[in-house]
Amino acid sequence: MAQLLTLSRAARLVGISRGALQLRMKDGDLPTFEGKIAAADLLRLYPHTRIEQDQELERVTHIKETAFARRVRERILPDAEVLALRVQELGMELVRSQALTEHYREVLARVHSELSSAPALQATRALLERMEFELRRPVPAKIDDDALWAQDSVLRVMTAHVRTQPAGHDFFVEGNDSLLDAGLRAGLALNYGCSDGRCGRCKARLLSGRVKPIGAGDRGLTDAEHHEHDILLCANTAVTDLVIETAEAAGPRDIEVQRSVAVVKNISHPTLDMTLLHLQTRPQQRLRFLAGQFFQLGLPNGSQAQHPGAGCPCDERNLYFHVRRDGVFAQAVFAQLREGQTINIAGPYGEFALDQNSPRAVLFLAYGTGFAPIQGMIEHALALDNAPSLTLYWLAARAADHYLDNLCRSWADALDNFHYTPVTVPADLDPLSDAVQRIVAEYPALQDFDIYAAGPAAFAAAVDEVLATRVFPRAQLRSVVAP
Ligand code: FES
Repeated sequence: MAQLLTLSRAARLVGISRGALQLRMKDGDLPTFEGKIAAADLLRLYPHTRIEQDQELERVTHIKETAFARRVRERILPDAEVLALRVQELGMELVRSQALTEHYREVLARVHSELSSAPALQATRALLERMEFELRRPVPAKIDDDALWAQDSVLRVMTAHVRTQPAGHDFFVEGNDSLLDAGLRAGLALNYGCSDGRCGRCKARLLSGRVKPIGAGDRGLTDAEHHEHDILLCANTAVTDLVIETAEAAGPRDIEVQRSVAVVKNISHPTLDMTLLHLQTRPQQRLRFLAGQFFQLGLPNGSQAQHPGAGCPCDERNLYFHVRRDGVFAQAVFAQLREGQTINIAGPYGEFALDQNSPRAVLFLAYGTGFAPIQGMIEHALALDNAPSLTLYWLAARAADHYLDNLCRSWADALDNFHYTPVTVPADLDPLSDAVQRIVAEYPALQDFDIYAAGPAAFAAAVDEVLATRVFPRAQLRSVVAP
């Protein structure tokens, strides 16, 4: 029987995105069997896959993480107990395979003996000769297959694979991460609250596999829930590959408004008119949101304003905002806000969010500080690893207004499926319409894309106006007026 890999494992082994593999499946280049991929088919498509490519995968993963300006997460091994349990599990698998091989060997020997003592019919003789010939032949060496499976075994000791139901999402658990942290980091919109085992909101049902309690464990569960194989995602890590049943937000309406207090971790000014704010909530006060949504920020002096988050929900406690020197709130940010101060924060608000389940390529169109929510969406899309390609056009009135140009270029350099073009154009309707017209003219099959647009009202109107003249399903356009 062919050895089968899940899509996530296959993508990880050959070092490409899940979206790129999905595209090959859609194009008919890569057959699937109940959603899984045969190792031989994978190697046929990517014949140069070798163990050494793991280093390349590490490099791209590292670039993805640091390119987001996130805190660099220490890569750690699972603790000794989890490692021992995973090795033990692999050992059990080996024992089962050996027992099966021994069983087949005995069956073959019995059949051979019975055929040998059967009446010497011509067909029986031919069958016997064929069997003896096949058994004498050396076992064919499938070097590439074997290397792939050896690499997969190492990965299974280092990381466990988790599949969620009913959404059908995948993620990997590294080190001693809780299932909740690993799932959030993979961009999943999991349900949670306290993050330390008290509220019970991250409850899930374990359908298969083994978990190990961490921290305070499942103290928020009743005996009956334990009996039903319920677990808390924040209080367990994975010992083996898992299948879990859990609730995930399907869209912005599934996430209620929350309130928290965040500390100003960092303030920087990429240009004279721009402030980049990095806020951090307390560990037990993380805010659930989807990339692209807005937050109400309240400064110590009482000024308030809504701004789109520029970070990814996968980035746990860290929230990012881009504030242009414009209006009372922005003036207070520039003149009075200092690192270490606290800000009241409420949210998320709004319907502008990434469609997490879409398999389509994505075209991002941003004007000026409309780049803020788009940045969060790009990071979220990279974490989800679903889209075959991500393309960003960042329009602005002056070249200097591409205030995170280096970040966008570093994504384009590091990631094969990310493309970036800065465009300089005035913020008036006619030139904006012409610019958007020129961009979409590059895409004859525009209906194969999801389009996300963020910027001033004139920009949103220009995008609307241009797309109305094209064959393009309106449901695949999401746009927002961003400050
Ligand atoms: S998030 Fe509260 S118990 Fe897990």
